[in-house]
Amino acid sequence: MKPDAVERNLIGSILVEYERNGLKISEMKLMKASTTIAEQHYAGHTGKPFFDRLVAYLTRSPLVPLVLEGENAINRVRTLNGTTDPEDSPDNTIRALYGLSLSENTVHASDSTESSERERAIWFG
Ligand code: CMP
Repeated sequence: MKPDAVERNLIGSILVEYERNGLKISEMKLMKASTTIAEQHYAGHTGKPFFDRLVAYLTRSPLVPLVLEGENAINRVRTLNGTTDPEDSPDNTIRALYGLSLSENTVHASDSTESSERERAIWFG
């Protein structure tokens, strides 16, 4: 859950979506991301025009990294989150319900097993 979610008191509302759908929370914390962590997390976007804005946003206030487990968890979480741009996101997805913009889209989800392992190591060691 990204800074715009925590700033607007949406932690509980978003967790309900995951838990109601049978996903298990196995790790979770509230923390402020350092620039180093944000740059590692978004390393795949290094050099893109929006990269500096993305890092500034991710580090501006606390966020909630979490690990969700369950059958086919990556696809299920991505479906619950919706599309990157909240404006295009299907009804009742987390980004359609709560996302503010392409930059401030409330949640992030790993897009593969490999990226989930990489991102888990960044956020939880
Ligand atoms: P996320 O799923 O966390 O992964 C990369 C993030 O970059 C994405 O969500 C968006 O918030 C952001 N992003 C992607 N494309 C753009 C863009 N064109 N302009 C600004 N931010 C973007």
